[in-house]
Amino acid sequence: MNLTNTSNDYNYTVVRQFAVVTVIWGIVGMLVGVFIAAQLIWPALNFDIPWLTYSRLRPLHTNAVIFAFGTSALFATSYYVVQRTCQTRLFAPKLAAFTFWGWQAIIVAAAVSLPLGYSTAKEYAELEWPIDIAIAVVWVSYALVFFGTLMKRKVAHIYVANWFFGAFIITVAVLHIVNSLAVPVVDTASGLWTMKSYSIYAGAVDAMVQWWYGHNAVGFLLTAGFLGMMYYFVPKQAGRPVYSYRLSIVHFWALISLYIWAGPHHLHYTALPDWTQSLGMVMSLILFAPSWGGMINGIMTLSGAWHKLRTDPVLRFLVVSLSFYGMSTFEGPMMSIKTVNALSHYTDWTVGHVHSGALGWVAMVSIGSLYHLIPNLFEQGRMYSNKLVNVHFWLATIGTVLYIVSMWISGVMQGLMWRAVNADGTLTYSFVESLEASYPFYFVRFLGGVFFVTGMLLMAYNVYRTITAPKGSLNAEAELQPQAA
Ligand code: HEM
Ligand code: HEM
Repeated sequence: MNLTNTSNDYNYTVVRQFAVVTVIWGIVGMLVGVFIAAQLIWPALNFDIPWLTYSRLRPLHTNAVIFAFGTSALFATSYYVVQRTCQTRLFAPKLAAFTFWGWQAIIVAAAVSLPLGYSTAKEYAELEWPIDIAIAVVWVSYALVFFGTLMKRKVAHIYVANWFFGAFIITVAVLHIVNSLAVPVVDTASGLWTMKSYSIYAGAVDAMVQWWYGHNAVGFLLTAGFLGMMYYFVPKQAGRPVYSYRLSIVHFWALISLYIWAGPHHLHYTALPDWTQSLGMVMSLILFAPSWGGMINGIMTLSGAWHKLRTDPVLRFLVVSLSFYGMSTFEGPMMSIKTVNALSHYTDWTVGHVHSGALGWVAMVSIGSLYHLIPNLFEQGRMYSNKLVNVHFWLATIGTVLYIVSMWISGVMQGLMWRAVNADGTLTYSFVESLEASYPFYFVRFLGGVFFVTGMLLMAYNVYRTITAPKGSLNAEAELQPQAA
């Protein structure tokens, strides 16, 4: 498999590398997800081995899917899009290569240190301080490559996808550095720093900083970055210009100025000052408008090209991802209303919301973009098999629906069972009863995960066959009819 560059116009080597590892890390991260989903039904699956306990594998899953799978997809697509839309090669190619190898080293360090039990216990920021420093170094290099390329662009205009990628890169750097500030513990015997550290923040301030980070990791990494992807690949695959360029600019400024305030909705009914919680709730409600503005802009880009959905499974991935984006950004503002959150918080409803965003939006838009990208990167007219892309589409869609519907039902059920009281004021159900009632739904979620991962395995095979096929041998015209269903 040759991953080095052959195009004289653009630096595709690093794009190819990130594209291929996205598929691999996607499979790894999702397999861990399926495994922990199984552990919630059959706890004996930890085999009494500390490395395999749920508490260690859960952060391994979240880190692998967000930072290995999702972020590699963002690296690949941002490096591709910035070159194509600026009509210039990447700035500082050696630094770009460093971002690839540096990021892979960080992923491996995470995959080793989390099962060993090293954790800061801050959600989505569990990695310990030496790895955090490495992340900051790679991320600043990424910013240099991306903005350096923008600065040497050969066109006056900066296409809107680059605005989203740029905001994602800058904000993630700020979030990561501020939230990860910590003091390492000194080993009294040797006088040396250990891997363990403690945050420089304490109490309610620590919680606020953590969820300012956590929520904006969602807003800028899992949303703004992928919207950058959407603004390039949806018009490309549909063969139509963006529905409204003006709306895309309003969408950009409204989204980035609102997201940053909404973090306190993760901390309703806590020690956080009440006004902060209410502010977070109001900002989250307003956030609905730009989120739907962006979704509508993406979906309406298909005006005049709707018929393509009948034959093009790649476009289906992209459009369905936008529908899930719309669903999760309707659900999020609803869940941020304090009285709704009183029911949903701590329940599986949150997990369902997360995966309607994570599987339905983040994973689907990445998969669709990769199916567009990979034939272009490897100089093929199309993927090896469009039929397999279509089967993948259905596996992913059914898998996502099974996952989120089961979690919605179990989440609402748990919330209602926990608050039910008898006439004498005692609780109607014990916690264990609510857990027992959740088991059937855990099994459906596990099935959904198996569907989704099976689709990813088909993708890996399809990508492998596309990359290894003789150059130019896959003709775009051939195999156009098969997935008419
Ligand atoms: C095969 C696919 C997947 C399966 C089976 C799966 C399964 C799981 C399970 C069992 C949990 C723990 C839930 C709990 O503690 O109650 C979880 C949490 C999580 N997963 Fe996944 N997952 C999958 C894909 C993904 C993807 C692609 C992403 C992101 C792009 C993702 C992001 C997350 C996040 C952020 C959490 C933490 C949720 C929270 O704290 O509320 N997952 N996943
Ligand atoms: C307008 C947009 C959105 C709003 C207002 C919003 C709001 C919320 C709210 C209220 C919660 C529950 C907090 C709690 O009770 O603990 C939540 C959790 C979460 N949301 Fe969203 N959401 C939005 C979009 C998204 C999207 C698109 C994604 C994913 C791609 C996402 C990922 C998450 C994650 C990972 C959590 C779980 C955090 C945790 O507790 O670990 N959200 N969101």
